Amino acid sequence: MTRPDSTNLRQDLANLLQQGGVLKTAEWRRAVEDVPRERFLRFFFKDAPGPDGHLRYTPVCPDTNEDEWLALVYRNETWVTQLDDHVTADTAEGPLPGFPTSSSTMPATVVGMNEALDVEDGMTVLEIGTGTGYSTALLCHRLGEDNVTSVEVDPEVARRADDALEATGYSTWTVAGDGLLGHPRRAPYDRTIATCALRRIPYAWVRQTKPGGIILATLSPSSWSYGTGLAKLTVKDGTAEGRIIGRTSFMPARAEAVVPLSGDLAARAAYADTERKTRLSPDVLNDWMPAFLAQLAAPGAQLIHAVSDSREVVYLFDTEREAFAALTADGDQWRVRQGGPVAIWDAIEEAVTAWQKAGEPDITAVRVAVTRNAHTYWIDGKQISNDRRSKWLGGKEPTLHWEHSHPPLTA
Ligand SMILES: C[S@@+](CC[C@H](N)C(=O)[O-])C[C@H]1O[C@@H](n2cnc3c(N)ncnc32)[C@H](O)[C@@H]1O
Repeated sequence: MTRPDSTNLRQDLANLLQQGGVLKTAEWRRAVEDVPRERFLRFFFKDAPGPDGHLRYTPVCPDTNEDEWLALVYRNETWVTQLDDHVTADTAEGPLPGFPTSSSTMPATVVGMNEALDVEDGMTVLEIGTGTGYSTALLCHRLGEDNVTSVEVDPEVARRADDALEATGYSTWTVAGDGLLGHPRRAPYDRTIATCALRRIPYAWVRQTKPGGIILATLSPSSWSYGTGLAKLTVKDGTAEGRIIGRTSFMPARAEAVVPLSGDLAARAAYADTERKTRLSPDVLNDWMPAFLAQLAAPGAQLIHAVSDSREVVYLFDTEREAFAALTADGDQWRVRQGGPVAIWDAIEEAVTAWQKAGEPDITAVRVAVTRNAHTYWIDGKQISNDRRSKWLGGKEPTLHWEHSHPPLTA
């Protein structure tokens, strides 16, 4: 089989990433120029909104139109490669609905994260979320195949990635397994990087990363697809500490993926303990940083926009604790009904209001510490969230307090 020549497309991609300020070092530029993304993306899905507004996925493969396929492969875009844990573009006929469960992440994110890893020659890396294997191949190019270990939870996805890596010349360690456990067998690693989002950094990764080593992963305390933060943490004495360095959005780790609630949502919100006017509109959650704070304030809560009796309702459900908040428009104001052992909207309002009073600092002002017992988040020295696991056993509730007048916040 003759292979298409993608040399120019790879250089164009490298130029694009460099001009965008993402690609910064010669080593990563060489990796982008040398690794053929098409080996990892023979089959993928193009998406477009269907008649009901929900996305529909159409398979793309080289057999349909090789030039078009190759041009798409080198777009700076995320391409979905698996839907609903098993549907792949080589066997499916589209357009079809589905929920993306594996993909090749957009090169700007992959390369930006690789740059942020601050690797040096000879370092070892543990990657969680092999996906197509493209990001793994870039790591192998930069550090050598023996220094890369990549864990993929889906055995079929792992097999395909391993085949593609072998065909590209990288006999690296691809492991089919749950990356939340890391991979103790080859630990410790200089760097740990995740290309799926997590509610918390697994403590196993802290154990498996060398002192002074870096963990880079996307934190999404409630598994929302936005309002998430890329955490860069340095490991020290059994803890990991650092900050959120930017926004990244990834599909959640499989064990943490949420099945969206459906059915009679009003029945879930039938018994309210309190009702009041809100201080904030739920529209505030459309912005990234308030959404991040809301996830911290109400970890595990699902956010659902619905229509009931021709009225918009914004629901937040914490199914584990059987708590809810239901917000409905009341003229140009909003009312909230809340029920269950935690007042979800009270907690979110408190967090977002404190942030507004502090001058609305960017997500990069957030610092994070991970210990065996807790994830703690701060801004400017003030703790904004602590999820000590002991609280679930009747211990202290998380604290959420900022002082009201803040000096300018620095990242
Ligand atoms: C965004 S894709 C990875 C993109 C990949 N790095 C690439 O460049 O093609 C996320 C991947 O994480 C995998 N994943 C989800 N949960 C996981 C877990 N607990 N352990 C390992 N992999 C996981 C998914 O199956 C999916 O293939």
